[in-house]
Amino acid sequence: MSAVLDETRELQGEIRQLLKTRKAILLAHNYQRGEIQDIADFGGDSLALSQQAAQTDAELIVFCGVHFMAESAAILSPNKTVLLPRLEAGCPMADMITADRLRAKKAELGPDVPVVTYVNSTAEVKAESDICCTSSNVVSVVNSLAAERVLCAPDMNLAKYAQRFTAKRVEYWKGFCPTHHLLKPETVAAMRQRYPDAMVAAHPECLPEALDLADHVCSTSGMYEYARKSPARRFIICTEEGILHRLRKENPDKEFILADENLICPNMKVTTLEDVREALTGMKNVITVPENIRQRAKRALDRMLAAPRDVPPAWRRLNA
Ligand code: 13P
Ligand code: SF4
Repeated sequence: MSAVLDETRELQGEIRQLLKTRKAILLAHNYQRGEIQDIADFGGDSLALSQQAAQTDAELIVFCGVHFMAESAAILSPNKTVLLPRLEAGCPMADMITADRLRAKKAELGPDVPVVTYVNSTAEVKAESDICCTSSNVVSVVNSLAAERVLCAPDMNLAKYAQRFTAKRVEYWKGFCPTHHLLKPETVAAMRQRYPDAMVAAHPECLPEALDLADHVCSTSGMYEYARKSPARRFIICTEEGILHRLRKENPDKEFILADENLICPNMKVTTLEDVREALTGMKNVITVPENIRQRAKRALDRMLAAPRDVPPAWRRLNA
């Protein structure tokens, strides 16, 4: 075993011991570094992580992900301590909307248009929203509302994806994920040509024109299920690079190719094992939300968690 691997294992062991001593749980998003995913108590997509944060008995939650995820955990579990090992792990998409701008938009649209807010948003923005959604339940959430017209914010690509599966009119905010948005449809088309036997799996944060070329569209956790169940041997993956770690681990006989080498979110990669150890030893970077905002944001998250969950819509590639 190499010295680097030895060191990694040692650090991982140290962190597991610290977690035990502090009665803590480590949650990791599917885009985190592989060595962090490997020691998490629970790894998953944004929906699964928020469900886990709401249900856990642990007194301390160490959140390896980005700020809005740790904030959601703090909103849902006010009596627990939530640590974010690196405070600068933000989400540029979440910063594309503010509570003030959302209030102005709501005034423009009127009271008959409920706001469905992607969890990739700040607590203040959630507090202004009727209900939250994630990439895995956006269609169920939109369809659970009585209104004929809804505003889906801040991701316009997710809103346009939802529009394909609902009779309601979905208005959108012009935000986007800089990592997924850069994936050009031409790149996906070229990858399809290069690997004609491969199945293309894409995240709904990608451009609609890129999704048109995908065989399957789903959340990050949906990709694990798809890869496991599909008889295909090769997959082109249109989402952030971190997902490859578990895909490859769980499917050693299948091949996974990232659609574009730039599909890397710098914020998701900023957290290291050393940061996790430091946060745990020093109880550093506690995430809190002012109570008046927390209660209103929790209402939007609770409504999402209680919304009936339909089977995710079946995707059909354009011209397939
Ligand atoms: P999901 O894991 O919910 O698909 O979210 C993707 C994402 O971009 C999180 O920042
Ligand atoms: Fe935000 Fe995109 Fe990074 Fe997710 S992948 S944290 S949406 S910038």
